[in-house]
Amino acid sequence: MTTLSVSTSSAASLRADALVVGVAKGPKGLVLAAGAEAVAEAFEGTLAEVLSTLGATGAEGEAVKVPAAAGLKAPLVLAVGLGDASEDGFAAEALRRAAGVAARTLAGVKKAALVLPAESAEEIEAVALGGLLGSYAFGAYKGENGKTPVGELVVLAPRKGSKDAKAAVDRAAALGEEMNRARDLVNTAPNDLNPKSFAAIAQAAGKEHGLKVEVLDEKALLKGGFGGILGVGVGSANPPRLVKVAYTHPKAKTSLAFIGKGITYDSGGISLKPAGHNETMKCDMSGAAAVFAAVVAAKRLGLQVNVTAWLALAENMPSGTATRPGDVLRMYGGKTVEVLNTDAEGRLVLADAIVRAGEENPDVIVDVATLTGAMVLALGTRTFGVMANNDELRTRLHETATAVGEQSWPMPLPADLRKGMVESTIADLANMGERMGGGLVAGLFLKEFVAEGIDWAHLDIAGPAFNEGGPFGYTPKGGTASAVRTLVRYAEDVAAGA
Ligand code: BES
Ligand code: MN
Ligand code: ZN
Repeated sequence: MTTLSVSTSSAASLRADALVVGVAKGPKGLVLAAGAEAVAEAFEGTLAEVLSTLGATGAEGEAVKVPAAAGLKAPLVLAVGLGDASEDGFAAEALRRAAGVAARTLAGVKKAALVLPAESAEEIEAVALGGLLGSYAFGAYKGENGKTPVGELVVLAPRKGSKDAKAAVDRAAALGEEMNRARDLVNTAPNDLNPKSFAAIAQAAGKEHGLKVEVLDEKALLKGGFGGILGVGVGSANPPRLVKVAYTHPKAKTSLAFIGKGITYDSGGISLKPAGHNETMKCDMSGAAAVFAAVVAAKRLGLQVNVTAWLALAENMPSGTATRPGDVLRMYGGKTVEVLNTDAEGRLVLADAIVRAGEENPDVIVDVATLTGAMVLALGTRTFGVMANNDELRTRLHETATAVGEQSWPMPLPADLRKGMVESTIADLANMGERMGGGLVAGLFLKEFVAEGIDWAHLDIAGPAFNEGGPFGYTPKGGTASAVRTLVRYAEDVAAGA
C-alpha cells in the first residue's frame, strides 16, 4: 500500500524518484502552477518551454515526463495538467484529479513528491487524497505480473504552521484508505466475496477500529421475519446476511443510518439477465461497500455524530429453491410484495433494511444502491441520482456531493408513477411497475418502507459505482467507491452542527 506523508522542505532539496509539478492552460499557452518555483529555477526558467515542446498544454488528464535538471535531487520531473489557469487558483477537484493522474503514471516508482499547489489545508488534503486514490491498484489475482503502486507519496507543503498540514494529510489517509478498501471489496471476484465472507470482513474491520458489528445469519433472518433479504438470497448456495456496523460518539446529537445494497452477485435470478449484462454484476454490492467505508471513516475521523451502517447482503441466483416471478414475500415489518421480476432484487433487500433501521429512530436514513439500469440511461456512467422524501435533504446531499467532487443530480419521485408498481392485484405491493422512469419507480418502492417522520434519501449509484471504461483522474477501472466521500462529508457537516 502507498504511504502518505507531508514535508515542508523545498522541492530542490528533496530526495525522491520523481517530482510532480502542475501545469495549466494560460491565455498565452502553458503556465507552471504554484509550488513549482524551485523546480523551475533548477531548469533556469526553461521548464515551461521544454514541456510545451514535448506537447504539454496544461489540459486536465495530461502527464508529461522530462529528465530533471542538474541540481535537483530527483532524476525525473512529471508535469500533470490542471486545466484552465485562473487568478483564484485551482478547484480542489482539479488538484485531486491531477494528483491522481500523477500517482497512476508513477506506478512502480518508489518515492514521488507531489509539488502541486498546496497552500491551504483544503488544497493539501485534496492533493493527498487524489494521490492516494490514484495510486490504487487491485492486485489480488495478478501475482507477479500485477502493477506495483507508487510506494511513497510526499505532499510538499512548503509553509509555516505545518501542524494543520499534517492533520489534512491524516484526514486524506483515513478517507482514501477506506475508499480503497471499498474498491477492493467491489473488485473481489464473486466466488470469493459472498454474504458470509463480506460479513466476516466487516467483523474483522470492526474489531480493528473499535466498531460494534452485529451479523444476522440466515437462521436469525428467518426468525426475525426478513422476507425480502431471504427471498433474494434463497436461490443461492451462499445464504444472505444483514450486518449492522455501529459507530457512536458520546457527545453526538444526531444519528444517521446509512443502508447499502449488498448483492454480492446479481445474475437476475429466475428472471435471468442475458449474457452481456451480468459480467460486471459483482459490483452490485457497491452500496454496501460504500456505507461500510463511510462508517469506518467516520470512526477514524472521530466525528461527533452517530453513524450506523446496514449492509443488506445476498446473492441473487437462479435455482430450484430460488424465488419465482409470481411469489409473494412477507417483508420485515409485515408488508407483502409480489415479486414480478426477480431481477428487481435490490429494492427487496433494501426494504427490509430500511424498516429495521427505522426501528432505531435515526434522524436521517440514506440508502446507497446500484439499483437500476434506468438511472444509468438517465444520467450516464459518472453521475448518481439523488431522491428523497424531503426536498431539503435531496438538495443538501446533491450539494454535498458537488462540494467533494462527486457528480450527482436530484431526481423526483412523482406520485403518478406509484400506480402500476405499488398496485399488485394480490399483495400490498409489486416489486416492478412502469418501465418508463424505472429509477424513480424503484425509489418510490423504497419510500413505502420508510417510517413516518424519518427523513430519507436514496442514492442510485448504478452508473458511477463501477468504471468499465479506462481510468481517469483518480478513478481506476473497476470499483470506484462512489458516494463514500458524499456520505463522509455529510456526516462531518452534521457533526459540525450544520
Ligand atoms: N443491479 C441491477 C441494476 C444495475 C444495472 C446496476 C446496471 C449496475 C449497472 C438491478 O438489480 C436490476 O437488475 N435492475 C433492473 C430492474 C428492473 C427488472 C425493474 C433494471 O434496472 O433493469
Ligand atoms: Mn437485478
Ligand atoms: Zn441488482
